[in-house]
Amino acid sequence: MKFHQVSKLQGTVSVPGDKSISHRSIMFASLAEGTSEITNFLEGADCLSTIDCFRKLGVDIRKPGPGHVIVHGRGLHGLQPPSSTLDVGNSGTTARLISGILSAQSFSTRLTGDASIRKRPMKRIIEPLSQMGADIQSEHNNGCAPLLIKGSPLHGIHYTTQVASAQVKSAILLAGLYADGITKVTEPCLSRNHSELMLRRFGADLHTEETTVVLQPGTPLTGQTISVPGDISSAAYFIAAGSVLPGSDILIRNVGINPTRDGMLKAAKAMGADITLENLCSGDGEPSADLRIRSAALHGTEIGGSLIPALIDELPALAVMAAFAEGTTVIRDAAELKVKESNRIDSIVTNLRAMGCDIEGTQDGMIIHGGRPLHGAVIDAHDDHRIAMSFAVAALGAEGETHIPESGCVAISYPDFFQHLNSLCKA
Ligand code: S3P
Repeated sequence: MKFHQVSKLQGTVSVPGDKSISHRSIMFASLAEGTSEITNFLEGADCLSTIDCFRKLGVDIRKPGPGHVIVHGRGLHGLQPPSSTLDVGNSGTTARLISGILSAQSFSTRLTGDASIRKRPMKRIIEPLSQMGADIQSEHNNGCAPLLIKGSPLHGIHYTTQVASAQVKSAILLAGLYADGITKVTEPCLSRNHSELMLRRFGADLHTEETTVVLQPGTPLTGQTISVPGDISSAAYFIAAGSVLPGSDILIRNVGINPTRDGMLKAAKAMGADITLENLCSGDGEPSADLRIRSAALHGTEIGGSLIPALIDELPALAVMAAFAEGTTVIRDAAELKVKESNRIDSIVTNLRAMGCDIEGTQDGMIIHGGRPLHGAVIDAHDDHRIAMSFAVAALGAEGETHIPESGCVAISYPDFFQHLNSLCKA
């Protein structure tokens, strides 16, 4: 796909449902007794992989209309052995969360995914789940998928994570639903808490004490009606584009603003972005709002510490904003970027540099000296949806033509991204 400079963004857009919440809605509804109805479900490839896996585990999941999913739950003990390997595609959330569930079943499962998934670290879940009694083997003994998971009796543990990771925390909590005692997970700082909020809604006995989640097993889950808020990670591209293109004024409707996910808003505001929240809605524990973005003169900032987990997926979009901002932006404490769908420190640094940006990678982030005009380039997205979308934004503010050959990967989280972006672009 080829991109050219535009003068500004104007108009209104609704981003698709939140990816993290969509995954969890299918998983928890599958383990619940009774029927769940989900609306504004994200029909991106990752969440469709989750549906596919749970169908293979015997769950009746129907899609009566766009973004509308009905799940006939089978209860905590009703999953059936799959007749073939579960394929999570590109989805790390599916791979890690489902492993917690599969560890406790009365059958064995083989789980794999695409080339990127087969390189991503799974030791971070194998270790705590094994401490709970799980039997998980990495087929090639390299700590990655394919995984062979033999269901086993589990016991509760108190696990302290080195890095704040909602996928690790959620995998342990899901296994904890089946354990013979209390499970506790303590994080260095809070990662996204969608699992805690939604598990409680489904009836799980769970509470949070500072950065520790405590789960008492034994309560059945019950089907729920879930309305998924728009994904702030998808809104991030419009927040970045609307902020950097002079004269822009856009409204992004119904965006989830859970405080464990809204780091992008805080970091963008620290750069001088003009963001106002309208139409605030408290939701069922998952707050949302319409975001009005007007272009602003941006300046560099420092992004690190406990803010990182609340904006980890938005760092590619923030790095693009930083390239247009005057002065230096330092991103630190974000070594996790190296183990996402691509090594995002490398993907951001090489591509922004190819566009003329003064940027250097560090061990745990990057330093961006912003304000130099960018020019078009051929972008290597490494088949990483968030890199492709962030560089489409960079292209709109760059002189000349930008080519993103692997643009199809946006279907992982935002199949209509280019149509939505195009509808806002004013020549
Ligand atoms: C996710 C958690 C984060 C995030 C990922 C989705 C989730 O990963 O980067 O895109 O839905 O739990 P980590 O748990 O590895 O930080």
